[in-house]
Amino acid sequence: MPIVSTPALEFVVAEASNNGVSDVLVVLSKGKTAIADYFAPDPDLESALQEKGDEAGLASIRRAGQLATFHYVEQLEPRGLGDAVAHGQQFSAGEPLVVLLPDDLIDDTDELLGTMIDVQAERGGIVLGLIDVPRAEIRKYGCAVPAPGADLSADVVALVDLVEKPDPQDAPSTLALIGRYVLPPEIFDALRGTKPGAGGEIQLTDAMRQLAHDGVPVHGVVFRGRRYDTGDRLEYVKAVVQLAGRHPEIGRDFTAWLREYVSGLA
Ligand code: G1P
Repeated sequence: MPIVSTPALEFVVAEASNNGVSDVLVVLSKGKTAIADYFAPDPDLESALQEKGDEAGLASIRRAGQLATFHYVEQLEPRGLGDAVAHGQQFSAGEPLVVLLPDDLIDDTDELLGTMIDVQAERGGIVLGLIDVPRAEIRKYGCAVPAPGADLSADVVALVDLVEKPDPQDAPSTLALIGRYVLPPEIFDALRGTKPGAGGEIQLTDAMRQLAHDGVPVHGVVFRGRRYDTGDRLEYVKAVVQLAGRHPEIGRDFTAWLREYVSGLA
C-alpha cells in the first residue's frame, strides 16, 4: 500500500530501524514475493542508474534495503495474527521481540517504540502500544484492562487483562491496542496452547492474556501522537492526504491544489 511513493511497510521498517532494530522478519502471506523483491538489491537497475550518473535515483532504490537485514517466512494459511507471530520463534532465538503490524503507521516525528523497548528492558514481560479511542470504536481493537487504581493519564499504565474486540457496552476500558508489541520469548509457548478465538483465528491477544493470567507483567505505553490506519479504506485515504501535504517535494503544490479543490466542493 503506497503512501505517495513509499510503501506503508517501508515506513514501519524505518520506525523499527530508527529504534535500534537491526534484523526484521517479514511474515508473508502465501505468494507475496513482491515484498521480498522490493527490499532486495536490484543490481541491473543500480548499474543502469550508475551509468546515467543518477545519484538521487540510486540512493532512493537502495534506501529500503539498507534499513535492516531482512528475513522472510511464509504463512501458508491465514490462521490469524497469533499464528503469524508464532512463525517468528526461531528468528527471535529466545530473546524479547518487537512485533509491528504494518497497517498501523506512527508519525516519524512522534515517539513510541523506543519508549516501549525501554519499558520492557526495565520491567520485563509484555509492553503494548495503546491509544485511547471513542467507546464506539473499541470493537475494532484489542482492549486493555488497567490494574485497579491505575492512573490512566500516565504515560505507562499497568494492565491486568486484555479482551479482543469487545462490544462497546461491555468494554472494560477505551484503551485500544495498536499494532505495536514488545513480547517476551514465553509468548511462543502461550501461542502453542492458544485455541482459535474471535473470527476463528489464533489471536495474539488470547496468548498474551494467558501470560497475564500466569503473572507475567503487562504494561501499556499510551500514545498521544499521530497514528495513521492504512488497513481501513477511509483512514488510508486520510493518511495519504496528510502525508502528501508534508511531503518534501510535492507537499506545497499538493496543499495549494487541495485548498482549491475543497473550496470548489463547498
Ligand atoms: C489486530 C489485533 C487487535 C489490535 C489491532 C491493531 O486486529 O488482533 O488486538 O487492536 O490488530 O491494529 P486486526 O486489525 O488484525 O483485526
